[in-house]
Amino acid sequence: MRINYNSLKEKLAALGVELRPGVSLAEHTSLAIGGTTDMLLIRRHEAIPEVMRLLDEAGIPHRFLGGGTNVLIDDGELAWVVLHLPTVTPGVSVEGNSVWADASSDLGGMVTYCAKRDLGGMEGLIGVPGSVGGALRMNAGAYGTQIGSYVREVEVYRAATRDIETLRGDAIRFDYRHTSFGPDDVMLRVRLELPSKPFKEILAGIKVCNEKRRASQPLNQKSAGCIFKNPPGASAGRMIDELGLKGLRSGDAMVSDRHANFFVNTGSASCADMLKLIADVRDLVQKSYGIELENEVIVWRN
Ligand code: EPU
Repeated sequence: MRINYNSLKEKLAALGVELRPGVSLAEHTSLAIGGTTDMLLIRRHEAIPEVMRLLDEAGIPHRFLGGGTNVLIDDGELAWVVLHLPTVTPGVSVEGNSVWADASSDLGGMVTYCAKRDLGGMEGLIGVPGSVGGALRMNAGAYGTQIGSYVREVEVYRAATRDIETLRGDAIRFDYRHTSFGPDDVMLRVRLELPSKPFKEILAGIKVCNEKRRASQPLNQKSAGCIFKNPPGASAGRMIDELGLKGLRSGDAMVSDRHANFFVNTGSASCADMLKLIADVRDLVQKSYGIELENEVIVWRN
C-alpha cells in the first residue's frame, strides 16, 4: 500500500514521522519473508494517537512491526502500511532494581545492560531474538524464565481508547506465550523489577543457556523461532521429530533438521511455501496424535 496524498504526507512529516516508500519487509523479518509496502517510522511515542487518527481518517489500513522475529508476512504488494518505532540505544535506564526499557530496544541488549549493573533473573532470555516490546506482547520465555514475571508497569498505546496509558503489571495477564493485551495495542515502554545478582553469576547462567540453545536450535538459519506453541504437557518439536518430518520441504521452506519446531527459509521461500509447510505438518500431527497445534508465529495475510 502506498501513501499518495500530499496533504497526509505533510501532516505526518509535521509530526516527525519519516515515510519510507516501498520497503521490502523481507529485509525486516528474521524469516526473510514478506512483501512490499510503505513504512512509517515514528520517533515520538506521543505522536502515535494522532498518526493513527490521520491514517484511519484517510482509510489507510496499518500494522505495527516490532523486531520482525516472530511474524510471517504475506508476499507481494501488501494491503496495509507498516508502522515502526526505530530502535533507540541503549533505550534502557536503571534505578535501584527498577529498569525502564523502551519497547523498541533489543531484548538481548537489555538483558546484558542490566547484567552489567548486577541485575539478573532474565538469563534465559538472552538468546531470544527480537525487541523488548515483542517479547512483552507475547510473554516470551525460555529456560524457565518468562519476561512477564518481572513486569511492574507498561506504557502502551491502547487501540480501545486510542490513547497512551500506563498499566500496572498486576493488571496484565501473562500466560504461556500469551498476554491480555489487545491485538492492536502497541507496547511503548516497560518497567521491570529485577533481582540483584553479581555480574559473574549472571554471566555463568547466560553461558549455560547459550550452550543449550546452540546445541538444539538452528541459530544461524533464517527462522521465526518455534513455529507452534507447545500443547499442554507435550512438545511440538518432539512430536514433529518423532513423525520423521525433519527436512520436510515446501519450496525453500523446510522443517529444520536440528529442531523440528523451527521452520527455516533455506533460500527464497515465500509466505505461501511456509504456510503450506505449516498446514502439512499440522495435519500430520493431528492425524497421528489427535492434537491441533496452535501457531506461535503471528501470520499477517493480505
Ligand atoms: N525434541 C526432539 N526433537 C526436536 C526438538 C525437540 O526430540 O527436534 C525434544 C527434546 O529433546 C526435548 C523436548 O523435545 O526432550 C523439548 O525440546 P526443547 O528443550 O528444545 O524445548 P521446546 O519445548 O521444543 C521450548 C520453547 C523454546 C525455548 C526452549 C528452551 C516453545 C514452543 N518453545 O522449546 O522457545 O527456547 O523451550 O526453553 O515453547 C520459541 O518460543 O520460539 C522458542 C524457541
